[in-house]
Amino acid sequence: MCGIIGIVGKQDFEIKEALKMLKRLEYRGYDSAGYGTSSGNIAKCVGKIENLFEKVNNEKARVIIAHTRWATHGNVSEKNAHPHADCKNEIFIVHNGIIENFLELKNFLKERGHYFRSDTDSEVIAHLIEEFNKENNFEEACKKAFSMLKGSFAILAIKKGYEKIVGIRKDSPLVVGIGKNVNYIASDIYAIIPYTKNFIFLHNYDIIILDSNSIRIENLKEGKVKRPIEKIDVEIEEEDNNFHHYMIKEIMEQHKIFDYIFEKNKENFLIFADRIRNSKKIFFVAAGSSFHASIYGYYLLAKLGIYSQPILASEFKNFKNLVDKDTLIIAVSQSGETADVLDAIRIAKSMNSKIYSIVNVYGSTLMRESDYYLLMNCGFERGVAATKTFTAQLTAFYILYKILKNEEFSLEELRAKVLDLLGKSRREFIDKISEVLKEKQHIFLIGRGISYVSALEAALKIKEISYIHAEAFPAGELKHGTLALIEKDVPCIVFLDEENKDETLSNAYEVKARGGTIIGVSPFNDPVFDIWIKIPDGREDIVIYQIIPMQILAYLLAIKKGNNPDYPRNLAKCVTVK
Ligand code: F6R
Repeated sequence: MCGIIGIVGKQDFEIKEALKMLKRLEYRGYDSAGYGTSSGNIAKCVGKIENLFEKVNNEKARVIIAHTRWATHGNVSEKNAHPHADCKNEIFIVHNGIIENFLELKNFLKERGHYFRSDTDSEVIAHLIEEFNKENNFEEACKKAFSMLKGSFAILAIKKGYEKIVGIRKDSPLVVGIGKNVNYIASDIYAIIPYTKNFIFLHNYDIIILDSNSIRIENLKEGKVKRPIEKIDVEIEEEDNNFHHYMIKEIMEQHKIFDYIFEKNKENFLIFADRIRNSKKIFFVAAGSSFHASIYGYYLLAKLGIYSQPILASEFKNFKNLVDKDTLIIAVSQSGETADVLDAIRIAKSMNSKIYSIVNVYGSTLMRESDYYLLMNCGFERGVAATKTFTAQLTAFYILYKILKNEEFSLEELRAKVLDLLGKSRREFIDKISEVLKEKQHIFLIGRGISYVSALEAALKIKEISYIHAEAFPAGELKHGTLALIEKDVPCIVFLDEENKDETLSNAYEVKARGGTIIGVSPFNDPVFDIWIKIPDGREDIVIYQIIPMQILAYLLAIKKGNNPDYPRNLAKCVTVK
C-alpha cells in the first residue's frame, strides 16, 4: 500500500517521466499523490496521478521523490498527501507503512516548537530529521531520525540543494535500480523495470545513501553491508489499447498461464511435491483470493489423504503453538508483500518451520524469505482484483495434485477450455445476466467441496468491484440459518461439480422453494436453474472454469454500476499494513 519512487540523476530528469514511473505503482494506492524535488518544489493532488500531471509544466530536477497514497492516518486530502515537509519546507519525505509511535514523537517534536500541517503519522519523519539536522549533517540526521521509528516503513528523504536521497526500509519493500549516471529507487521493480535490469534489494533496517553514480548501504543494526546486484530480465508488458481496463485485459489473457507455469518450473514442482509428501504437518497461509486458492489446495490434499489446514495469515499467530520444525508452511501470495503473510511466515520461521511459497512477483519479500518458492510466471497483474493470478494459483495446486497422485495431465486441454470460456458469445451471455443482477442488494453463492472455493472467490470479486453484497456458503450450510434471508427474487449462484452434484442441487431446490432465483454455473443443466451458465466439464480443474465467468460477471457489474474496476474504493492491490 502506497507506492514510492526516487530518482537521482547527474543531469536533470523530467518530472513527467518520474510521474510515469510513479504511475506504474498506482495499483498500490490511488487516493492522492505528490512529488518533491531537490530544487525545493513540491506539488500534490487528490485522486489519481493523472491529476498531478496537470500541475507539471516542463519542470526538471536532479533529485525527485514521489508518492501515491492509500490513506491510513488522516483522511484523503492534499494536506495529507505526501511528500511531507519540515517546518522550513526544505526537507521532504515520502513514506510507505505505518509509524506506530508517531504520537509520542509528535509530542516530543511539538515541545521543541515544530509545527505540523497534516494529520498523518508520516509527517513526524520530516520534523525529526529537521530536529537532528540542527546539529548533524543531513545523512546523520536521517539515521538518527530513522532509528527512533517503530512500525513498518519504506522512507525516502531529500533536502533542498542536496543531491542525494537517503532512505530506509523495515517491513516495507524498497529496491534500487542502477542506471547510467542515474539511480532509481522504488517500492517494487515494476516502477523501474523500463529503465534498467540491475537491481539491489534492500533488507530490513538497510539505510541507503543514493547518488547519481554511487550507492552506499549501511544497516542500522549491522553497520556497513554489501548487497548483491541482481540482474532481472522481465518483459515489460505494453499497454493494450484493446481493453478499457487492466482487469478485463488480465481476465482475457488467462489462457496464457498454461504456457508458462509448468514449462518454466518443472523441477520446482517436483521438489515442492516431494516436500509435501514428506511433511508431517502442513499449513497454508494466505489472505483474500490467495486464501481461497489455498482452500482449493487443502481440498485437493484431502482427496489424496494428506492432512493440511488453511489459516488466514492475519490469524496465524493464534495458531503458532501448533507449528514446529516438522511443519511445512505453504504461503500463497500474488504480491509476496502482504504484511499479514510476511508476519505469519516470520512467526513460523521462528519456530523452525519450512516456508515454501507460491508467488507471482519476482524479487518480492516473500520469495526472498522463503526456503523454497514456485513462481506463477503469469506476468504483472495491475487490476486490484486478482484474476489471472488466482487462476495461476489454482493451476499450481492442480499440477501439484497430479504430480502427487502420479497422474498424467494435459495443460493444453485446460488452456483450450479457458479459451472457449473467454469467447465473445459467452461474454455477451454474461452481460445479460449482469443486467438482471446489477439492481440487486444481495447475492448468495453456494457450492460444495472444491466448488465452495468458486463461491468464495466469486463473492469476493463481486463485492470488491461492484459493491453489491455477496456472500458464499458451503451449500449444505445455508439451511443452518442463512436460508432465512432468502425471499422472492433473491439471486443465488450455484456451483456444481460431478462429485457434489446431487447434494448441491437439493440445496438449490431449497432456495428455489423460498422464491430465490437460481443461477447455475455448471457443465450440466437442471430444471432448478432459472439461468444456466454452461461451463466445460472437468474434475479437479472445474474450479478454473467456474471462476472465469464470475470474474467477467463481476467486471460487467462494476461497469454497469459506474465503478472503475481497476481502482475500487478503499482498496489497493498490495496490502503492506497489518
Ligand atoms: C482480491 C484480492 C485480495 C488479495 C489479498 C492477498 O481480488 O486481490 O484479496 O488476494 O490482498 O494479496 P496477495 O495475494 O498479494 O498476498
